[in-house]
Amino acid sequence: MNDKRILRPFTRRDFLKTLLGGGLAATGVAASGVVASRGGVASRHAASHSTEGHTAHTNRSTPVTGHAHGGTGTVGQVDHAANGFDPTAMLSDWDYGQVSTLPGGQTLREFHIAAVDKEIEVAPGVFFPAWTYNQRVPGPSLRCVEGERIRIKFVNAGSHPHTIHFHGIHSARMDGVPGVGAGEIAPGEETIYEFDAYPFGCHLYHCHANPLKRHIHKGLYGAFVIDPDPEKYQGEEHELAKARNHMYPETQEINEMVMVMNGFDTNFDGENEVYAVNSVAFAYMNQPIKIKQDQLQRLYLVNITEFDPINSIHLHANFFDYYDHGTTLKPTHKIIDTVMLCQAQRGILEFSFKGFEPGLYMFHAHQSELAELGWMGFFEVTG
Ligand code: CU
Ligand code: CU
Repeated sequence: MNDKRILRPFTRRDFLKTLLGGGLAATGVAASGVVASRGGVASRHAASHSTEGHTAHTNRSTPVTGHAHGGTGTVGQVDHAANGFDPTAMLSDWDYGQVSTLPGGQTLREFHIAAVDKEIEVAPGVFFPAWTYNQRVPGPSLRCVEGERIRIKFVNAGSHPHTIHFHGIHSARMDGVPGVGAGEIAPGEETIYEFDAYPFGCHLYHCHANPLKRHIHKGLYGAFVIDPDPEKYQGEEHELAKARNHMYPETQEINEMVMVMNGFDTNFDGENEVYAVNSVAFAYMNQPIKIKQDQLQRLYLVNITEFDPINSIHLHANFFDYYDHGTTLKPTHKIIDTVMLCQAQRGILEFSFKGFEPGLYMFHAHQSELAELGWMGFFEVTG
């Protein structure tokens, strides 16, 4: 991918091979199962762990043929209960905050976010010492409506100074960067971020403490979705806004999902060894996302991957409409099957499998290396 890697004496590939070749102690990573990829690496793994592979198959709701025998994926299961979050639930477990009305009539939404150090399992047996918002990576998927007053009470219960920087429109004081407003919040301290929610779209928040690269890759980020307010729009736009606002039945008929594309540097070499959406490598291969053939699918996609300049999503056997940053009511790209995102770029994908044959439809990053190291999944289309 870049010259740097060619010059490196010890690459990510070497790291994986070391794991697979039994050099676990030398790497300092507790790994009972590892990320396997196509070809020789996977077959070596399957040969030494064939029993584990079969056990894993019986635990799956939908066995994926060839998964542990030369296919792509992981062997074994991540303990979602110990993590305290499950990637399947994370697709739609929005945090709508506490809603009340201010004296002037404006809606107030209050959110509570605490930064907490927590070790998480990002692939079977591969643990990462994360810094989290509310003990999960990504942090809670915050959802509100355009024009509402947003109040976030932030408590730093972690071991390092942190902030929350929101993408959106707000005053400099509320920007969550070092040296401005409350600046970096020291361990044990707290602050309140408050602003009106604009513009509607698919946004994100993340820690902006120094060094930035470290505070992001450790896991301090999450999705922040502002729904359009239909009352602000007329005619066709009014109708389109209703189908994008979680308080309207038009939106509730749509299957909405959130995916935050991320990566984990498990050996602290400044590169990612594990990639995913919603943190767990191959989570949606092991548990394909069940979707109904006739239902419109809407995917809020955010890229927060550190170290790699780009990430992407590619849908197999289908095409989607795309709303760049989610800030328009009509698609900015129509009928595409791949979109590329740099860090913090995000957008909304809309697609449907209406009329398609039921089955497993793959999606993944179209940087093959990212896909093979965990960023790959299936939609299970049912009739
Ligand atoms: Cu931080
Ligand atoms: Cu940012």
